[in-house]
Amino acid sequence: MNDLRDKYIELIAAATGEAALEELRVQAVGKKGEISLKMRELGKMSPEERQIMGPRLNALKDEINAALAAKKAGLADAALNERLKAEWLDVTLPGRGRRSGTIHPVSQVWEECTAIFADMGFAVAEGPQVETDWYNFDALNIPGHHPARAEMDTFYMHRAEGDDRPPHVLRTHTSPVQIRSMEAGGAPTRIICPGRVYRADYDQTHTPMFHQVEGLAIDKDISMANLKWVLEEFFSAYFGTAVKTRFRASHFPFTEPSAEVDIQCQWKDGSVKVGEGDDWLEVLGSGMVHPKVLRAGGIDPDEWQGFAFGMGIDRIAMLKYGIPDLRAFFDSDLRWLRNYGFASLDVPTIRGGLSR
Ligand code: DAH
Repeated sequence: MNDLRDKYIELIAAATGEAALEELRVQAVGKKGEISLKMRELGKMSPEERQIMGPRLNALKDEINAALAAKKAGLADAALNERLKAEWLDVTLPGRGRRSGTIHPVSQVWEECTAIFADMGFAVAEGPQVETDWYNFDALNIPGHHPARAEMDTFYMHRAEGDDRPPHVLRTHTSPVQIRSMEAGGAPTRIICPGRVYRADYDQTHTPMFHQVEGLAIDKDISMANLKWVLEEFFSAYFGTAVKTRFRASHFPFTEPSAEVDIQCQWKDGSVKVGEGDDWLEVLGSGMVHPKVLRAGGIDPDEWQGFAFGMGIDRIAMLKYGIPDLRAFFDSDLRWLRNYGFASLDVPTIRGGLSR
């Protein structure tokens, strides 16, 4: 029995893992283990022998079980120590700050425009960016042969041979939304449409995709005077200072009369300041909606009239926030975005209108 004890105590001491230990347990005190078999032999012994051997075998079994348990705990401790050594963490290190993103200037200005025009009762309308040439051109009184079509550097959607759907284009301006919202809502109406537009053009002030905001107000007696007030109100709120506008006679197929609108500004050391000085900066096209355009939108031009305007969002963003190159707007360069972007909790920097 001493041999048996020494053998297992030694084996247990030498065991290197839980699996080996389990094997030893089965081998020694499992159902068919060496010590268990010995205990079964007790039955064949004489009572005297049994009285001696029984307690000794039990003691041996207890001793082996205790050794197994102690070794098991030892192995677990050792494993834990190994892990603690390998997986330590210095909780005194400074945290790794997470940079928060910024609002793109276009999104910011888009919101600002929406807020200012909403104050003046304009709702936001939307239209598709892939547009039929009817909405983009014909309905706006730009027929097929009209030079404006060529001037706009239009992107045409590919059409497979035999595809007889109307030709589609990437809308070259937000003006087609005028037609769509006239169709949908009739008159009277007062909407703006901020959105993406596309033209095949690329230099410091042109990108193939850019943003416009369209305006449209139709009622019984809307006039150019209303247009001028709305625009001056808008620019003054947007730039946070009283801004004069100058209307220059112009021509657009979809308005009659038409005007290009300049805002008052001053050039100083190569940068421009809006709202003071004797210089003028062109910022938008506008006019009284052409009767043919009203009719294309399902509105009777003998009963209704209105004004419309179209303005570059990117352009007025560059002006307000002093951003020199339009192309950088769409480069997704994080350094640029961090520099020119806005904190997400910035509310639009607009002020109450002039005449309120
Ligand atoms: N659609 C014109 C453009 O993209 C801008 C424009 C001019 C819009 C006059 C209008 C308008 O609504 O009345 O160049």
